[in-house]
Amino acid sequence: MMQILKDKVILVTGANRGIGKSLVKESLNKGAKKVYATCRDLSKMPEFEDNRVVTLKLDITNDHEIEQVVKQALDTEVLINNAGVLSAGSILNGKIADIEKDMNVNYYGTLKMMKSFASVLESNSPARIVNITSIVAYSPLPSIAGYSASKAALLSATYSVRIELAKKGVTVHTVNPGAIDTDMNKGSDWDMPSPNSVAKVILDKVENEELDIIPEDIGLEMFKSWKEDPKKLAEIFHNIYHAE
Ligand SMILES: NC(=O)c1ccc[n+]([C@@H]2O[C@H](COP(=O)([O-])OP(=O)(O)OC[C@H]3O[C@@H](n4cnc5c(N)ncnc54)[C@H](OP(=O)(O)O)[C@@H]3O)[C@@H](O)[C@H]2O)c1
Repeated sequence: MMQILKDKVILVTGANRGIGKSLVKESLNKGAKKVYATCRDLSKMPEFEDNRVVTLKLDITNDHEIEQVVKQALDTEVLINNAGVLSAGSILNGKIADIEKDMNVNYYGTLKMMKSFASVLESNSPARIVNITSIVAYSPLPSIAGYSASKAALLSATYSVRIELAKKGVTVHTVNPGAIDTDMNKGSDWDMPSPNSVAKVILDKVENEELDIIPEDIGLEMFKSWKEDPKKLAEIFHNIYHAE
């Protein structure tokens, strides 16, 4: 494995808990030069006890905060768009406000981050964008339909940006997990891996130059079905939906 992340300047969104917090710790383990750990409410930021960590306030839906962060993080070489929200609800029974919220954060928020950081990354190239989408970007789970649509939109936009930046020295990765043991899955009785273990796999795969990363077994199983035949993943989600 190449040490692609060693001595790099890495920015992580949603770094206060869940996968984001683990991605900060794992970036430090990988020998990052500096990690910008960003989150909405700095009073909730954990103590990383490492002087390579610089904490910055950032709500990815807030244009002004994004602008401020860009100015303070002009040396960013690896942008990890991890922040996300999940509202439960189907298309027909879910609230429009919830569907809009998932779209605003997961899709428009991440898009704004890519738009705002693209020129910074280009000027610091070789650089990377790592966008955390989800396995439901490939095929929707109707009980989280708005979330699924927001991640499908994000996957599409990420593929566009991959092509846009292909000749600019910026490599664009997608990460499409199935299920990880974080607050987002509170109450689930699935057997899920820890965010620490998943963050390590994600960054190992980035260092292996894998463009589309599935970091855990549930996601891998689902992705395998989808690759064989997209209808097979739709059937898995049909069964999950109708068993609930
Ligand atoms: N867990 C899974 O099984 C799973 C599977 C597939 C994909 N993912 C994706 O992985 C990413 C991380 O999820 P997680 O499981 O770690 O979830 P989590 O524990 O719920 O953490 C979500 C993080 O995103 C932050 N966030 C939410 N809205 C934000 C905003 N507007 N601006 C900035 N930060 C915001 C949260 O900050 P606050 O503390 O301020 O709310 C928190 O730090 C998400 O994109 C999620 O969709 C997760």
